[in-house]
Amino acid sequence: MADYVIAIDQGTTSSRAIIFDRKGSIIATGQKEHEQILPKAGWVEHDAAEIWRNVQEVIGLALSRADLTRHDIAAIGITNQRETAVVWDKNTGEPVYNAIVWQDTRTQAIVDRLSEDGGGDRFKPVVGLPLATYFSGTKIAWILENVDGARAKAEAGDLMFGTTDTWVLWNLTGGPEGGVHATDVTNASRTMFMDLETLQWRDDILEAFGVPRSMMPEIRSSSEVYGKAKSSSLLRETPIAGILGDQQAATFGQAAFQKGESKNTYGTGCFLIFNTGEEIVHSKNGLLTTVGYKLGDQPTHYALEGSIAVTGSLIQWLRDQLGIISSAPEVEDLAEKVEDNGGVYIVPAFSGLYAPYWRPDARGAIVGLTRFANKNHFARAALEAVAFQTRDVLDAVNADAGVDLTELKVDGGMVANDALMQFQADILGVPVVRPVVAETTALGAAYAAGLAVGFWSGLDDLSANWQEDARWEPGMDDAERDRQLRLWRKAVTKSMDWVD
Ligand code: G3P
Repeated sequence: MADYVIAIDQGTTSSRAIIFDRKGSIIATGQKEHEQILPKAGWVEHDAAEIWRNVQEVIGLALSRADLTRHDIAAIGITNQRETAVVWDKNTGEPVYNAIVWQDTRTQAIVDRLSEDGGGDRFKPVVGLPLATYFSGTKIAWILENVDGARAKAEAGDLMFGTTDTWVLWNLTGGPEGGVHATDVTNASRTMFMDLETLQWRDDILEAFGVPRSMMPEIRSSSEVYGKAKSSSLLRETPIAGILGDQQAATFGQAAFQKGESKNTYGTGCFLIFNTGEEIVHSKNGLLTTVGYKLGDQPTHYALEGSIAVTGSLIQWLRDQLGIISSAPEVEDLAEKVEDNGGVYIVPAFSGLYAPYWRPDARGAIVGLTRFANKNHFARAALEAVAFQTRDVLDAVNADAGVDLTELKVDGGMVANDALMQFQADILGVPVVRPVVAETTALGAAYAAGLAVGFWSGLDDLSANWQEDARWEPGMDDAERDRQLRLWRKAVTKSMDWVD
């Protein structure tokens, strides 16, 4: 049998292909960024055709760097930025509009309209999500309501919707020539349309949004053979056998299979996922209820999630919009030049505030400025904002779970930042633990695919691969932590006061 599995990680800022061996070690990576299209304040789009081109390119890059061919690859896993909505013509394969990205807030008017009849939580008992611009549902509705000819085509059965896993799967399996139009339960659970118990689309909710059911992909498990690669000659005939939304994939890659286990991923945003086992737990503290994973015919595992919209993208903002740094890692150098934040707090509510506040009207706030504040303090405050937001979400998880988490497993790009991880442990008051393979998102997708084709025999194999790399113990005294949290929460109230 082939000795490797490849994972495609179609993320918010880039697409990557990563090849893993049986130990879960990385053999080679290909990565390419795509354009962030920002036509207006609050609008964020991607060119889906560019994403598909990049996916093909990074597969080639990873294979050539590893000096491997398709014969060495046992299976393909897909993981993706969730909620981002692509709508395309199934006959031509052309998107009818740019992909509307999860961070995009243009659909607030649709959210408000739908909330009029039954409030913002009207679908929550069924789908686990409040009405919010974040999820795919209102993005599809917006395309059908605003793109010329889209509704008529959708009603004629000519349009397909997909999150980017579905877009990649459909193209990889042949596109207009027999492409597989499917998604997995984790991605489906981010649309607003999937019933968490039956794992099927709800006709009544689709109808309320004005979305024809014919556009929707088939919902499948997270680990099974969906089809074989066709259009990419490089991987032709290789089974695509795992799909997980990126945050669920990271949880799976962290081997957090047991009820009560959790992880926090530091990417564009931060997403803390808490495994609730086979139980659907409805949050009383602003968390989402979502599907964790489902392996083939085995029982569904659910999770609570605290989603934070802006963390890594705040560092990008310092780089691209303010020009304070020229590369993201520089933020750590600046932050280390000062002893503390100099009294500066940044609340990056660029897309409103997500968990646990769910305040779409909140706007970013920088408070505590004096003449003393300089760019080093800004860098420090930006990093601290990541840790403070995670603390807010952890408090909600503890309140919902009824027991306090005793440590936090972390992963994602920003966990290479020691100063941030130490501050995170300080502000949480519990240890923060990083695994050897911090690329847990891609690893999770590789695991799901490898399990389906027998590359790994079961969850025990995967747990055995997990190894601790670094641990940060909390060092801050309680009084200082309380003072910092008090100021942070005051800053959050300022961002929520800022209503036009
Ligand atoms: O829900 C959005 C999330 O899936 C995006 O993740 O890693 O691309 O920022 P990331």
